[in-house]
Amino acid sequence: MDLQGLKLAIVGATGAVGQETLRLIEARYPKHTNLKLLASKRSAGRKMEVNGKTFTVGETTDDSFDDADLVFISARTEDSRRFGPVAAAAGAMVIDDSSAFRMDPAVPLVVPEVNGSDLEWHNGIVSIPNCSTTPLVMAVHPLREASPIRRIVADTYQSVSGAGGAAMNELREQTRTIMHGGPAEPDAQPQQIAFNVIPQIDSFNESGYTREEQKMIDESRKILHEPDMAVSATCVRVPVLVSHCVAAHLEFAEPVSVGEARELLSQMAGVTIQDDPTTLSYPMPVDAAGCDDVFIGRIRKDASHPNGLAMWIVTDNLVKGAALNALQIAEEATARNAVHGKTR
Ligand SMILES: NC(=O)c1ccc[n+]([C@@H]2O[C@H](COP(=O)([O-])OP(=O)(O)OC[C@H]3O[C@@H](n4cnc5c(N)ncnc54)[C@H](OP(=O)(O)O)[C@@H]3O)[C@@H](O)[C@H]2O)c1
Repeated sequence: MDLQGLKLAIVGATGAVGQETLRLIEARYPKHTNLKLLASKRSAGRKMEVNGKTFTVGETTDDSFDDADLVFISARTEDSRRFGPVAAAAGAMVIDDSSAFRMDPAVPLVVPEVNGSDLEWHNGIVSIPNCSTTPLVMAVHPLREASPIRRIVADTYQSVSGAGGAAMNELREQTRTIMHGGPAEPDAQPQQIAFNVIPQIDSFNESGYTREEQKMIDESRKILHEPDMAVSATCVRVPVLVSHCVAAHLEFAEPVSVGEARELLSQMAGVTIQDDPTTLSYPMPVDAAGCDDVFIGRIRKDASHPNGLAMWIVTDNLVKGAALNALQIAEEATARNAVHGKTR
């Protein structure tokens, strides 16, 4: 089966991730026009062009999925909860971008380069991880060949597009307003984001971690099949439009050299090493934006632990952090002949 021959429905086609999904379909499948673009009632009737064909966005309803083979949902979590099971029951395979089903034991949480084989046991719904978890596990996975990993400390610098199109507009407008002496007036973010950094993404748990940080902890363990791995994260919003960065500190069971780590990472599909301090070469959000790969640099021995490595990881959160990973799941499921809806 080829993805080219499948009917694709995109719920949230008008959003930041949805628009990136359409851009990637154009880039990877320039003849694919067997599409259905869906959003909320607000956007119903809007015209969008994909691969030279004009589509009218429809309102998402329970009847939207009868003719779809694959349904990409990149809307609000409550929309995923409502429409995901309906689409799977209608016979479509659902690839969901939200956190609605990620920790459901019956739903695989997949980064194809890391745990593509988990697609073998899905029952109509597959989730993609949080947009900072994906690049982290892409970096961690190949290094496990050198030595088991005992502990991960990951601190993130996340762009506003991780919070959707409204947050991107807020950064642009707030920057302009403040430059002209006006007030910040936060709305899409909990605090002023222009000329600031916010050590809060999502709400706080009783533990003191935010839900975004807890997602990184729980999701990394699930994807890596390491339920007891020690993971800690601090997730920070920065005034950058696109691309998330992670400062990762990994502790191994045995010492791992920088050279060995670089060799293993260089063999990992979807990873590009950009690491030459002599030429000031290291990954940055402005360079990673619009690219498919996870970029890794600043690889060095962790001065605080004999078995530790430190590194800097950057990826476009809308591409590999969301739309590309979802599309690659569809491609991997197609190759494994595993595109189907709910089977019982
Ligand atoms: N942004 C990222 O980097 C990223 C990464 C990984 C995962 N995700 C997840 O992807 C999802 C979408 O994120 P985003 O950044 O694209 O958000 P966004 O820019 O705010 O877009 C939200 C989309 O959801 C649609 N929508 C809202 N209410 C709906 C309803 N009742 N029925 C159907 N569609 C509805 C919106 O359509 P209207 O135009 O009609 O409002 C819009 O297309 C979220 O679950 C997010 O957690 C995002």
